[in-house]
Amino acid sequence: VTQAAPAMAGRTCLVTGATSGIGKATATGLARLGADLVLVARDPARGQATVAEIQAATGNPRVEVLLADLSSQASVRRAAEELRRGHDRLHVLVNNAGGYWATRHVTVDGLELTFALNHLAYFLLTNLLLDLLRASAPARIVNVTSGAQATGRIHFDDLQFERRYRGQAAYNQSKLANVLFTYELARRLEGSGVTVNCVHPGVVRTNFGRDDMGPVMRLLTPLARPFMRTPEQGADTPVWLASSSGVEGVTGRYYARRQARRSSGRSYDPELARRLWRVSEELAGLRQPA
Ligand SMILES: NC(=O)c1ccc[n+]([C@@H]2O[C@H](COP(=O)([O-])OP(=O)(O)OC[C@H]3O[C@@H](n4cnc5c(N)ncnc54)[C@H](OP(=O)(O)O)[C@@H]3O)[C@@H](O)[C@H]2O)c1
Repeated sequence: VTQAAPAMAGRTCLVTGATSGIGKATATGLARLGADLVLVARDPARGQATVAEIQAATGNPRVEVLLADLSSQASVRRAAEELRRGHDRLHVLVNNAGGYWATRHVTVDGLELTFALNHLAYFLLTNLLLDLLRASAPARIVNVTSGAQATGRIHFDDLQFERRYRGQAAYNQSKLANVLFTYELARRLEGSGVTVNCVHPGVVRTNFGRDDMGPVMRLLTPLARPFMRTPEQGADTPVWLASSSGVEGVTGRYYARRQARRSSGRSYDPELARRLWRVSEELAGLRQPA
């Protein structure tokens, strides 16, 4: 009896934020399907430990780590270069690394951390790897957003919350940005064989927000944890979007629980999406300021 090849055999998949939570469960799910995996991690020891853990759990030895602090644009650029040196194909890119901060933090590039990590890192890494994805078509991009996109607004007058920082507003903005980025990129990739979708993973028991939760979340999170989804449940739709033949060719959609859903009204505004794209290009150093 010959066994069918695993669904993702020979497919190279990169997952960011793969050392914890939804990213780690997504990487594990793709490894189990036989993919060649590249895990992006900022901490070498955590990265190596995760590789060993995923290899042991799945029996798939083809798991490697790519080191990058995604809050630093120089580090994102180095990681993209390093990936290119080792790989001439990339079939799946899962942008997932992100977080919530109750107080304002500034990156090495002088940018507000939520915007820089949750949105600009998705934007920059994807753009730097786009030619590789195009050359590997059919290829897929999966952006992990959040239900928080629904209440998000893009504060063009103060994108970095320099006037008055509000953690929740910064987070909601970044997650709406994930959706706007997904839809605009889908328009730009039409006909290329590269699809891009975004996903709300549900409310999931992870390390999310742990570094700087603020008093309210610190109080409520332990109470809510028993009711949260497991990382494996949170990773179900991301893995499915990255691998299922059922969504072959599907692009520019927002998913939750394996179902295409409507995202916020604002997310469907193409002018808003184009404006965010232009500003993001400037802030990520992909275009000279106008
Ligand atoms: N948990 C939820 O309920 C929920 C709900 C909706 C959406 N989401 C989204 O799901 C995604 C993953 O979150 P999670 O819940 O799995 O959180 P998590 O357990 O805190 O995992 C976050 C991951 O991102 C990595 N990361 C953080 N800062 C980084 C940096 N500067 N450079 C590189 N990697 C960095 C972390 O690495 P370390 O291990 O080094 O810290 C970790 O692997 C986020 O985009 C979040 O917005 C989560």
